[in-house]
Amino acid sequence: MKNEIDAQYEYMEKVNKINTGKNLKYAIYTMGCQLNENDSEKICGMLENMGYSKTEEVASADFVIFNTCCVRENAEDKLFGKIGEMKRQKEERGTILAIGGCMMQEKHIVDKLHKSYPFVDIIFGTHTMHKLPEDIYHILERKNKIEDVIDIDGEIYEGLPIKRNDATKASVTIMYGCNNFCTYCIVPYVRGRERSRKPSDILKEIESLASEGYKEITLLGQNVNSYDGGNGYKFSDLLRDVNKIEGIEKIRFVSPHPKDFKDDVIDAICECDKVSKIIHLPLQSGSSNVLKVMNRRYTKEQYLDLVEKMKKKIPNVVFSTDIIVGFPGETEEDFEDTLDVVRKVNFEQVFMFIYSRRVGTPADKMENQVPEEIKHERFDRLKALVESQIEENNKKYIGTIQKVLVEGRSKNNIDMLTGRTDSNKVVIFEGKEEWINQVIDIKIVSEHMWYLKGEIL
Ligand code: SAH
Ligand code: SF4
Ligand code: F3S
Repeated sequence: MKNEIDAQYEYMEKVNKINTGKNLKYAIYTMGCQLNENDSEKICGMLENMGYSKTEEVASADFVIFNTCCVRENAEDKLFGKIGEMKRQKEERGTILAIGGCMMQEKHIVDKLHKSYPFVDIIFGTHTMHKLPEDIYHILERKNKIEDVIDIDGEIYEGLPIKRNDATKASVTIMYGCNNFCTYCIVPYVRGRERSRKPSDILKEIESLASEGYKEITLLGQNVNSYDGGNGYKFSDLLRDVNKIEGIEKIRFVSPHPKDFKDDVIDAICECDKVSKIIHLPLQSGSSNVLKVMNRRYTKEQYLDLVEKMKKKIPNVVFSTDIIVGFPGETEEDFEDTLDVVRKVNFEQVFMFIYSRRVGTPADKMENQVPEEIKHERFDRLKALVESQIEENNKKYIGTIQKVLVEGRSKNNIDMLTGRTDSNKVVIFEGKEEWINQVIDIKIVSEHMWYLKGEIL
């Protein structure tokens, strides 16, 4: 049987032939997490191979693609609004409209698309993204609608073209899917079971990124520390091997699961000088009762013990986290436990979410849903605490010298350069073009909530 990816390259060539000389443009909306963004980079790679070039102006695009997310409700409202806006452009311009990503793995969403938005040309899921060239070819040839969603776990396909968004930092997906089934979460249903890429494929990709000049790598997966490279090769082995790659200066990873954060990973973080010392450790809730119903499989105490262990073993370690407020049955006391953990750990960054009911998840069926106004009131209290901590933490940076990976010109102030510290804080400072994509020492002179200001030494 012909290799699936070779077959797709043939379709890319066929579409490219059809498109030649037409100067066609595409626009892409990426609505989800970093994995979704990494998928979008592959979608862009395929589209460019087919003769489309990228535009930020949707109105002038001949091909529009939405890469969707369904982890929270507001993403859905946003998508349907945007699809509605596309109707006229399609009629006037004949723009091809493709919708892909996690939300397309949900049957009720695809049904709604067929019923209310019949003008969508291509619907594809997370397991069939690589077949986009074939789908586009059929649309161009036959002009009838295509739905290409499968419900079984997709295979891992290597070798798709990729067009990256950034020239300094790159994301590398190391595993797909999730086996954890936290009771609030839709991801395991739309991304399937865990499948790890081969270590050799991952290392080859990072080596080639290093040779292209990339300095920072983020290893991606829903639960990276259950990475299984085969023959006993674990996430800690991967960290060590990536750390050896010349040219790469910074290694980050998202997300590990606290229940799987074993000593071998902590030891690897200590040993590997390039691994960032800000660890993203999703808490979700500080209450052992809530954590149990969430199926997180750790308690408040186990989480705090893990943080303490890491603080002891890893010099200068700091943490970021994800927290959900208003999970079904969350009492005032449970919420106080969350605030308590936030105070104790003193996170550098907290991604805060209001619990959102997801069709098909166990938590959606729980009867003790927390009223909206209580969720919002708790969210505001958590936000106030987090912001006061960030302000305090930022002060500690003033006068320190930070190694900053320079990413480019600041979007808000073109005269300034922007980069990030090891702890992922944005730093802006005056500097020369040639520092871009270098790691340089910067003295922090002031703090401004969401960024620090610095000076060259
Ligand atoms: N696998 C990762 C991240 C998954 S999604 C992890 O376990 O950490 C990113 C974040 O979205 C989660 O960490 C969680 O905080 C949030 N999230 C997931 N489902 C949610 C829901 N139904 N409502 C609100 N937030 C949710
Ligand atoms: Fe969702 Fe939990 Fe899996 Fe993260 S670990 S993707 S929160 S089920
Ligand atoms: Fe990511 Fe959203 Fe899918 S968070 S895995 S794009 S549901």
